[in-house]
Amino acid sequence: MTTAARARASSATLWTRIISRRSRVSSSPRKRACTRSFASTDFIRPHILELAPYKPILPLDVLSGQLGIPVEQIIKLDANENPYGPPQEVFDALANLEFPHIYPDPESRRLREKLSFECGVPSENIIVGCGADELIDLIFRVVLEPGDCIINTPPTFGMYAFDCCVNAGQIVDVPRGSAPTFKIDVEAIKAAVQENKPKMLFLTSPNNPDGTVIDEADIDELLKLPVLVVLDEAYIEFCETQSRMQAVLEHDNLIVLRTFSKRAGLAGIRVGYAGMPLWIMTYMWRVKQPYNVSAVAEVAACAALDNAEYLKKIKELLVRERERLFSELLEFDSLTPYPSQSNFILIKVLGNAEDLKNYLAREGIMVRYYSSPPQLASCIRISVGKPEHTDSLIRALQRYYSM
Ligand SMILES: Cc1ncc(COP(=O)(O)O)c(C=O)c1O
Repeated sequence: MTTAARARASSATLWTRIISRRSRVSSSPRKRACTRSFASTDFIRPHILELAPYKPILPLDVLSGQLGIPVEQIIKLDANENPYGPPQEVFDALANLEFPHIYPDPESRRLREKLSFECGVPSENIIVGCGADELIDLIFRVVLEPGDCIINTPPTFGMYAFDCCVNAGQIVDVPRGSAPTFKIDVEAIKAAVQENKPKMLFLTSPNNPDGTVIDEADIDELLKLPVLVVLDEAYIEFCETQSRMQAVLEHDNLIVLRTFSKRAGLAGIRVGYAGMPLWIMTYMWRVKQPYNVSAVAEVAACAALDNAEYLKKIKELLVRERERLFSELLEFDSLTPYPSQSNFILIKVLGNAEDLKNYLAREGIMVRYYSSPPQLASCIRISVGKPEHTDSLIRALQRYYSM
């Protein structure tokens, strides 16, 4: 039985149970007061009942307690955050926040104006969200009817599948090829579009977790398909390829996602943005929560953009460090790092990758471990840190492999 059919079947059973329970209860009003016990799941949407529990990441202080290592000694290389953080302008602007007691601008006008100037796209084509994550969910809510499908190209960022399931959609996976290129399969995507009539196609370039960039020609080809193409450029600053932001003015079916989390060190403040054609913006405004971007988030993102020099500098530092980390990793016989154009490196581990990840955690170095899908089996992903983070990591790896 497909997931949708299972969901429909369990929904039918639930409603039968609810109706019979209601008629039982209403025939005996005195009893109603003492028969309040019910299966709370009766009230949950069937497709939500089927969702796997969310596995949250641990905040630094909890990690610190668990590992018995002070917060400031933990080297967090598991979530592709930017270790340099934002420029001083952000701290100054937050210290001088003027109206924290007033609701923020629901249209984030100041920030959208600045982004418009930076990206060369009118602000009318730009929307801001509580991270790119929120925008992904909003797009689903605007576009997807329960049962509609999307094309996903795993291995990739998990939120497309997550939000698709939350929004009762179906996922058609067209897997990427094997390492080290993790190439998307354009012909298979075309065939899947023809067969499944999906509403959307999610593409990530550079891709998380492998850091590879999709060929320009492939994106051009896929834009010809009758689907909405959501191109996630969360890591675009770390590669040589130009952003496609301006292309949303030429392509009626292109949405481009960007974020301040990686480029500006603002992951904790939560600001993402997207460029899209005007026709879809109309509906994004209709579903967006009025105050989705806090005053803090807007002020911080504007201040970060005010120091373009700093953003450029930390990007260069991370790209340089990525190359050093890559060549250091090559020295280990048991590790095969894959070339990356992002701020992280995926590494195939010969031996027990989970054991390595646990060892590094005990040393206070957090990395991401994967056991599946097949292309990621026995892999770890390490975010690029500061030079001293690389030094500590390499020393820990040397200790591990000399044991
Ligand atoms: C490909 C990709 N897109 C989007 C995001 C989320 O960005 P944000 O922090 O703006 O929600 C991430 C976060 O890791 C990511 O890897």
